[in-house]
Amino acid sequence: MDEKLFSARMAEYKSAVDKYLDACLEETQCASYHKLTDSMHYSLTAGGKRLRAILVLEFCRICGGDVEKALPMACGVEMLHTYSLIHDDLPVMDNDDLRRGKPSNHKVFGECTATLAGDALQALAFETVLKTDLPALRVLKCAQVLANAAGHEGICGGQQLDLEWEGKILSAPELEEIYLRKTSALIRAACLMGVAAAGGTKEQEEAAAGYADNFGFAFQLRDDMLDVIGDEKTFGKPIGSDREEGKMTFVDILGLSGCQRVIEAHSESAVEALGDMEDTDFLIHLVRVLEKREQ
Ligand code: IPE
Ligand code: IPE
Ligand code: MG
Ligand code: MG
Ligand code: MG
Repeated sequence: MDEKLFSARMAEYKSAVDKYLDACLEETQCASYHKLTDSMHYSLTAGGKRLRAILVLEFCRICGGDVEKALPMACGVEMLHTYSLIHDDLPVMDNDDLRRGKPSNHKVFGECTATLAGDALQALAFETVLKTDLPALRVLKCAQVLANAAGHEGICGGQQLDLEWEGKILSAPELEEIYLRKTSALIRAACLMGVAAAGGTKEQEEAAAGYADNFGFAFQLRDDMLDVIGDEKTFGKPIGSDREEGKMTFVDILGLSGCQRVIEAHSESAVEALGDMEDTDFLIHLVRVLEKREQ
């Protein structure tokens, strides 16, 4: 895909998502507990890449859906993702002081407020998804997919293993399970929600799931590489956090060049999984751009 077209569509999606999120946040303001809503606002507007939201919107578009109407779905996924990052940075979890190039939520608002802001963002995520103006069965399906990715089978299960197994030498299948749950689950949910928002077919669902699982694995692998070789200013997160917390990653098993090769292989598998779906240039370009991401 032409680089200019790709960047223009990325920017268009990102700005629509940011605008909708701002509107949602405006509705949450409350004089008495403004510290909580300020804290929610702080992390949600700190400048994430909005990748998961973009996946919702693009899958919706290529499945023939109404992208404008799918915006609450996309923003719901971003709210849930932001909650997971706030909790992930807490001292009892990864203990990281920098997120999206700014002090982590708990460094600004304290651990209690950060915990509650995460909780409130998770609830707001479902409220936002459920108010989508699309046929009720599609909306229900999206809420169910998101709940599954957020819960014990997805992020929470993955984060449990990620923390419980700190300091342990892990096998490749054990690490793969962590990645599948803590990272790929939400990316898969985003892609499936896009298909569901458009009322897509079973075949489109399967293609989206195959793309997402490979995308998610490659995405976490690149994150682990950047935790070693990244530049703190560009990455927006502390470098060396995994080692400091005693977390083993695929960098320890495969080395940096081995990781890069596996990332490229998974990108190819993601592209193959799209099969004969039409109009997939953007999705193909996206996975290839992320192979070399620095942010
Ligand atoms: C960070 O995700 C958490 C991982 C799964 C590695 P992103 O890299 O998408 O974070 P933001 O939303 O752009 O900050
Ligand atoms: C990402 O794992 C998983 C979630 C945040 C749910 P990391 O702990 O590697 O993510 P970063 O590097 O802190 O963004
Ligand atoms: Mg973590
Ligand atoms: Mg972390
Ligand atoms: Mg990381």
